[in-house]
Amino acid sequence: MNKIFCAAALGLFSVASVAQTTINIDAKKPGAAIPSTLYGIFFEDINYAADGGLYAEMVKNRSFEFPQALMGWTSFGHVDVRNDGPFERNPHYVRLTDPGHGEKRTGLENEGFFGVTVKADAEYNFSVWARSADQKESKIRVEIINPASMGESQVLAHQDITIIDNGEWNKYKITLKPKQDVQRGRLRIFLVGKNGVDLEHVSLFPADTWKGRENGMRTDLAQALADLKPGIFRFPGGCIVEGTDLETRYQWKNTIGQVENRPLNENRWHYTFPHRFYPDYYQSYGIGFYEYFLLSEDIGAEPLPVISCGLACQFQNRNDDAHVPVDELQPYIDDALDLIEFANGDETTKWGKIRSEMGHKAPFNLKYLAVGNEQWGKLYPERLEKFITAIRAKYPKIKIVGTSGPDSEGDKFDYLWPEMRRLKVDLVDEHFYRPESWFLSQGNRYDNYDRKGPKVFAGEYACHGKGKKWNHFNAALLEAAFMTNIERNADVVEMATYAPLFAHVEGWQWRPDMIWYDNSRSVRSCSYYVQQLYSLNKGKNVLKTTDAKGKPLAGNDGQNGLFASSVVDADGSIIVKVINTSDENQKISLNVSGLKKKALAGVKVTSYTSDKLDADNTLDNPEAIVPTTSSDAASGNVYNATLNAKTFSVYRFEVK
Ligand code: AHR
Repeated sequence: MNKIFCAAALGLFSVASVAQTTINIDAKKPGAAIPSTLYGIFFEDINYAADGGLYAEMVKNRSFEFPQALMGWTSFGHVDVRNDGPFERNPHYVRLTDPGHGEKRTGLENEGFFGVTVKADAEYNFSVWARSADQKESKIRVEIINPASMGESQVLAHQDITIIDNGEWNKYKITLKPKQDVQRGRLRIFLVGKNGVDLEHVSLFPADTWKGRENGMRTDLAQALADLKPGIFRFPGGCIVEGTDLETRYQWKNTIGQVENRPLNENRWHYTFPHRFYPDYYQSYGIGFYEYFLLSEDIGAEPLPVISCGLACQFQNRNDDAHVPVDELQPYIDDALDLIEFANGDETTKWGKIRSEMGHKAPFNLKYLAVGNEQWGKLYPERLEKFITAIRAKYPKIKIVGTSGPDSEGDKFDYLWPEMRRLKVDLVDEHFYRPESWFLSQGNRYDNYDRKGPKVFAGEYACHGKGKKWNHFNAALLEAAFMTNIERNADVVEMATYAPLFAHVEGWQWRPDMIWYDNSRSVRSCSYYVQQLYSLNKGKNVLKTTDAKGKPLAGNDGQNGLFASSVVDADGSIIVKVINTSDENQKISLNVSGLKKKALAGVKVTSYTSDKLDADNTLDNPEAIVPTTSSDAASGNVYNATLNAKTFSVYRFEVK
């Protein structure tokens, strides 16, 4: 028995049926084309999304550049931190020298991100830059240990590395294969013998990274992104683009080139919420703009970088004093222009050459650029205008994304939308983290938007469940309901991205989030499955979808909490999405007109429901609530169905 019927049979919902609702789908005149970018993803390094998350590096503070140089490390014996290392922008390194007496040890241990977590018999690539400290050959031992081992030995894998005595820095690499799993392991390195050694950029990666790349990404997390088949990929933030102050804003030029020489930046999320304080959360930029562009290409999404507009975070600078004067904006504007060149320029250009030398000869074909994140007030348009003038002059085809501020409505929003129209941006970014009631009330949000003005980018949104801002099925269901409005208005909404994307269960600052993980497992939330149902059933053109009175189904009076939208796909299939947000099972009649001589010829129904509205998938039970698909016969032009309470169903009709 399918889960839905099972839930109803058990009486878990109130099962009184209301009258049948007719849903008219007009297949005669397909409407607006669905933009390829409509459903996408937004990545920000929040909740340990990059370091400690998607970025597969397992060593925290690998370059000893945290303000407390040994944060993340425990040292023993004679360890000195020095600052004249081989990498100009990350100059710190450690010197290990003989503690005296043959049995004493000098070395350090790294705690990783919430532990160094390894699997038995898997391979891990260790590398280090090293130099003999005494002009004599020296040796280090590298171990993966389980400090809490109850067995005979703590050591799960080990290998020695001989450091040659040429006085030069060299990169050394070994592969370690632990004999047991450990969740809260550590990486230990110590001196063997009397001769000292200098160590810099200590790194440990699983050999199995996504697409087998060096400096790569966690396979399960990158695959979860690819499985969403996103059309747009917004990065790298969010608030981290702006910085708490201008010095700590995200500067893309610091994130490219050799990883060893990408300077560390703070991560504002380490201190933004005092009740979720993570003093060891920094940005190594191991995933930088080159990697973001590459990831966009790999997952088939258009890249959408966001750059600083010269305003530091206005939430954190309430007196609006952390900004660049308008007449001093040129370096920021140059960063924008150079970024376009980095992405699209050929090898004869300065930045195109750098991209090519990093390994990507062909341009990334950047089409969109967002200037600023959640900015507001007059300070924003007066700066944005300067960027627009410069970008339009040099790169007229680039689509510029402006913002409507941090709120879905209100003063800031009402001021900025007309300003964005005046400045003729191509898209306006809207953000809404809102409760259930808001999502239920917004089914017509875009129906009356100005079709001649800029397009909409719903760049950050999520339903925050009552009181607890926590992932659960009901929030996902209401996101699905809201998305019918996005789909129906695909002529004005060009892209939409849920936020935030990732969260480490031990290191989150913000919830709900789309994908959760610990160091060895990950789980796709109900919101993930809703996003995926939309992106996998995106279709080609919108079809007019109305109730018996000719009104869009947006959960309004007389519509019994039903939301619906539909599209026609390239192969002629008709895809209808219906969400029953009510507590009652409902009979629906999908009435497809305009099929000419053709008729419905079978339907695949994918349904998403849960008998527990406040539940979600978990690391221990990652498939607790997943969509189920069944097939049914369909003929003529009408299909009658019962849509159970609190259910999102996607009907994909074959048409012959
Ligand atoms: O997604 C989390 C934060 O929410 C983003 O950084 C910011 O743009 C918004 O306030």
